[in-house]
Amino acid sequence: MSEDTCNLRVGDSGKEVKLPVYSGTLGPKVVDIRKLYGQTGTFTFDPGFLATASCESKITFIDGEKGVLLYRGYPIDQLAQHSSHLEVCYLLMYGELPTAGQFAEFRSNITRHTMVHEGLKNFYNGFRRDAHPMATMVGVVGALSAFYHDSLDIHNPEHREISAHRLIAKMPTIAAWSYKYSLGQPFLYPDNKLGYAENFLRMMFGVPAEDYEVNPVVARALDRIFILHADHEQNASTSTVRLAGSSGANPFACISAGIGTLWGPAHGGANEAVLKMLGEIGSVKNIEACIRRSEDPKDPFRLMGFGHRVYKSYDPRAKIIRESCHEVLAELGVNDPLLDVAMALEEKALNEDYFISRQLYPNVDFYSGIILKAIGIPTNMFTVIFALGRTVGWVSHWMEMIKEPDTVIGRPRQLYTGATNRDYKPIAKRR
Ligand code: CMC
Repeated sequence: MSEDTCNLRVGDSGKEVKLPVYSGTLGPKVVDIRKLYGQTGTFTFDPGFLATASCESKITFIDGEKGVLLYRGYPIDQLAQHSSHLEVCYLLMYGELPTAGQFAEFRSNITRHTMVHEGLKNFYNGFRRDAHPMATMVGVVGALSAFYHDSLDIHNPEHREISAHRLIAKMPTIAAWSYKYSLGQPFLYPDNKLGYAENFLRMMFGVPAEDYEVNPVVARALDRIFILHADHEQNASTSTVRLAGSSGANPFACISAGIGTLWGPAHGGANEAVLKMLGEIGSVKNIEACIRRSEDPKDPFRLMGFGHRVYKSYDPRAKIIRESCHEVLAELGVNDPLLDVAMALEEKALNEDYFISRQLYPNVDFYSGIILKAIGIPTNMFTVIFALGRTVGWVSHWMEMIKEPDTVIGRPRQLYTGATNRDYKPIAKRR
């Protein structure tokens, strides 16, 4: 990280301060304002973090103008084409692609942790059968900290690594069981002969009474979806995980907080909302009305799966998913009219002044739901799939943050606009 300085004149006093300016390896420069308050008594104001780098990170880089996404320097399209989710997990966690030996050891570590404590099964019985699986995920993942006391010392690197492995390994089991519970079907234990996505598919769709044959096309499509969702720098859920972790909270509690944040429809919940929206549109002839609604400033309706805080061009993940969507549907012989609606909607929106002027393009969630639907994943499990893929991103950021020697608790300040100091009035004297 190279360093420069800039001068800033603040307030009526005209007081000037010299602030350090850092350049990363890629991306815009950042002004270090940590001493600003001490030297000038002034805060910066940036609700929603529109121009604030909340941390330093070496994990993922996004260039939103050019539509670039790199995991540890590797372009997302190369990883989606040539890698596997487990290899990407290693890359994100440890910073380098593994050698054959390192990968074999990592895979064996993850595989050894796929089962969950038997006591944790009882947790599911406490939920209503019709609970949203994301609600179940928040509860069960948070509860892991009550079962794995042997890996909760966040200052111990071995504990941190075991917790990270446990989270990556157990998430498919926990996710599949949240679905099985909603169906009232028995839970299936993991089968460690299978790959990461295959094992999840078997636990989702298999039953103890029969053998389950994993379709390799489906497994590959799902694995690719996991890769595309694995990390996305300081998004809302990852920032939540970092903020929770900065207090010294244990990793299971932090990831549970991240899952809760991901559930929101402006974030990971959008994939579920896209499919609902496409279903409501129903036919290409209704697209015009839908576009008009999304452009009406008085209507809160937004085109789900469109727009992104960082991407002001085509989301590179959406490009890959769009292609994958056609391949998967063709290979599975699925003819989904929602894909026609999605493509026509995309084409129409991309030619509208409203969307052009605001640089609104399809994001990762626009086409992912159609693939997930084609491979048999129910709509309310879409965000769970996102959480499964994103787990490695969350744990990698959590580990990076804890290792950083000058990590302090995240504690933003505010611009206070409430009442000024006033005296308490007894109730009888209030009007
Ligand atoms: N449909 C219609 N108008 C939109 C949309 C949309 N999907 N997204 C943004 N706009 C408009 C918005 O109304 C505003 O217009 P104006 O300037 O006239 O007020 C302008 O574009 C800028 O919007 P913004 O809300 O300031 O942008 P943001 O960066 O705060 O929001 C977003 C980003 C993703 C929350 C937003 O685009 C959105 O709500 N999209 C739909 C939900 C969605 O697909 N979310 C998934 C995001 S990608 C996966 C993930 O990160 O989890």
